[in-house]
Amino acid sequence: MNPRRILVTAALPYANGPIHIGHLVEYVQTDIWVRFQRLRGHRVVFVCADDTHGTAIMISANKAGVSEEQWIARISEQHQRDFATFGVDFDNYGSTNSPENRELCAEIWSSLRRENLIVEKDVEQLYDPVKGTFLADRFVKGTCPKCGAADQYGDNCDKCGSTYSPRDLINPVSTLSGAQPEVRVATHLFVELEQLHEFLEQWTQSGNHLQSETANYLKGHFLGDPLRDWDVSRPAPYFGFEIPDSPGNYWYVWFDAPIGYIASTAQWCAAHGERLEDWWKNPETEIHHFIGKDITYFHTLFWPGMLHKAGFQLPAKVHIHGFLTVNGEKMSKSKGTFITAETYAKHLDPQVLRYYFASKLGPRLDDLDLSFDEFAKKIDADLVGKVVNLASRTAKFLAPTGLSPEYPDDGGLFEYGAKQGAEIAEAYENCDYNRAVRLILELADRANPFVEQAAPWKLAKDPEQADRVRDICTIGINLYRQIIIYLSPILPELAGKTERLLGTPITHWNDASAPLTGSSVAKFEHLMKRIDTKDIDAMIEDSKTPAAEDASAEATAPTWNDGPEALAAEPLTETCTIEDFAKVDLRVARVVAAESVPEANKLLKLTLSLGGDERRQVFAGIKAAYQPEDLVGRLVVMVANLAPRKMRFGLSEGMVTAAGPGGAEVFLLGVDSGAQPGQRVH
Ligand code: 2FM
Ligand code: ZN
Repeated sequence: MNPRRILVTAALPYANGPIHIGHLVEYVQTDIWVRFQRLRGHRVVFVCADDTHGTAIMISANKAGVSEEQWIARISEQHQRDFATFGVDFDNYGSTNSPENRELCAEIWSSLRRENLIVEKDVEQLYDPVKGTFLADRFVKGTCPKCGAADQYGDNCDKCGSTYSPRDLINPVSTLSGAQPEVRVATHLFVELEQLHEFLEQWTQSGNHLQSETANYLKGHFLGDPLRDWDVSRPAPYFGFEIPDSPGNYWYVWFDAPIGYIASTAQWCAAHGERLEDWWKNPETEIHHFIGKDITYFHTLFWPGMLHKAGFQLPAKVHIHGFLTVNGEKMSKSKGTFITAETYAKHLDPQVLRYYFASKLGPRLDDLDLSFDEFAKKIDADLVGKVVNLASRTAKFLAPTGLSPEYPDDGGLFEYGAKQGAEIAEAYENCDYNRAVRLILELADRANPFVEQAAPWKLAKDPEQADRVRDICTIGINLYRQIIIYLSPILPELAGKTERLLGTPITHWNDASAPLTGSSVAKFEHLMKRIDTKDIDAMIEDSKTPAAEDASAEATAPTWNDGPEALAAEPLTETCTIEDFAKVDLRVARVVAAESVPEANKLLKLTLSLGGDERRQVFAGIKAAYQPEDLVGRLVVMVANLAPRKMRFGLSEGMVTAAGPGGAEVFLLGVDSGAQPGQRVH
């Protein structure tokens, strides 16, 4: 079989909020598909990026008091950290605000111009007469015309959920100046999509590029009528790219977002000495997009239309999935089911969520439900009880002897598993992971009775049975490994532990057809934990926020309660002069490394950067309050001129500032983003 050349993308997350478990459905689904294809020996490049432009991001940055660039840099870091935590392993993670993207947007734009697809039309839009700018919907607030709720944005109401035009708001005001907006005419640029009708009809309805439900939906909802012109420009102020041949106008975020797929690939190509044309202008490359059903329209009409006209390769397939519900309902902040990736990982093992999602994901667009009862059952009964147990009951008997030199007679169990590989692979290929998992568990259901009956733990008591024990366990561990090879796209971490246990890497799907013999087995280390329902409860509790925030579930900026503050108990110390204060050299510092000091109950060892090469080592009594890995990258305030102090573990060259009585109640002082390491605190 010739290796395929495959480019895979997952939708670019907006840079205006954290990754949550709803997002993870897609990233996990895509990452599994990528790992599966690689295991089959195909060449895959997997790219993603943050989707960084548009009004929502301007507002978030503005609320946080930072520039848009600072805001998106911060979010990108968080997003990438969360993806890594969940084993989602991109080859390149870019940004739509990159020079590569700007250039590609310009290239595609000139193709559309050349093809006479762009038309100008006048659009009535609200205008701020004080600031002298047009107002995007989100920059207008007023009273909801449907329910009368005050202080609602110009596009939809947080209270009743209705959508409307900002011109329908009662008593609208500009959020930029507080002025009453006027209606003015602005010229927008549109793509005349109707010119592409025939092409889109043909592309969407044939060639298996879309799931049949999607093809039918497009036919029923869009392709039966002339396609409407697509408004792709926004007047300033707008965070995005200015259109080179239309000064003062910017590409609408949805124009440059999918081009970000190509731009991220371009960055990967530059880093790996490859040519972009080989990936995006090459019929030998299969392009696979993974998206949620809410953005079908953009990826199945505009996007193929743009690619087609600009001479890029069209997607081989757009894989579309449904939404996540939790315990049968929409995720809710007040119920604690709007769970961010970060909060999940604080309480539960990320890889088991990958397993749970996989066990629920089918090839269709149905929504999938995360039921915590079922989640705990699947992990405990299926994954730990049936799969991991195969290893825990056999591996320890093999550590002293290694595997039998010949694979013993297992009554055809291994051979059956090898034969099932084809069907399991087909299920993965079709994104029918639910079926793949069922087929794999069926193998575990065959292996377990064998081990159960042979009961090596009983025979092991009799030294005369040593060879028999080794044979039984050689079978048991090989059946386990075969299952793990099939599960490895879903559970890369468990697969890694298995590789280390058996001293043999998993390099190809076909490794599942050849049993291991004669090799050594490492000391058995714990592979996976059962679910403690207390952790689920704690995670939900940790995710709860007041009901009022539900409506803006995609809340963009941090919020806080502004009720009365608790009274600080400690009395104030005596007055000092400004000169006294100036003796203390307080500096902004970045934590570049943090580790726990094993011999000290309270101490973490921090390496702080004061900018440039200036580094300080500081021992801080904050172990009970902070995990070292959570500190790396954050800014703190340090006393930089404190006389160094020799401690048992090394020299402490300063002090980090913190509030609170001590122990777990310690709160490090932070600084607003924008501050640079080394800056003095006055
Ligand atoms: O819906 C979203 O979250 C978008 N940010 C997805 C963009 S996908 C691609 F087109 F960039
Ligand atoms: Zn309303």
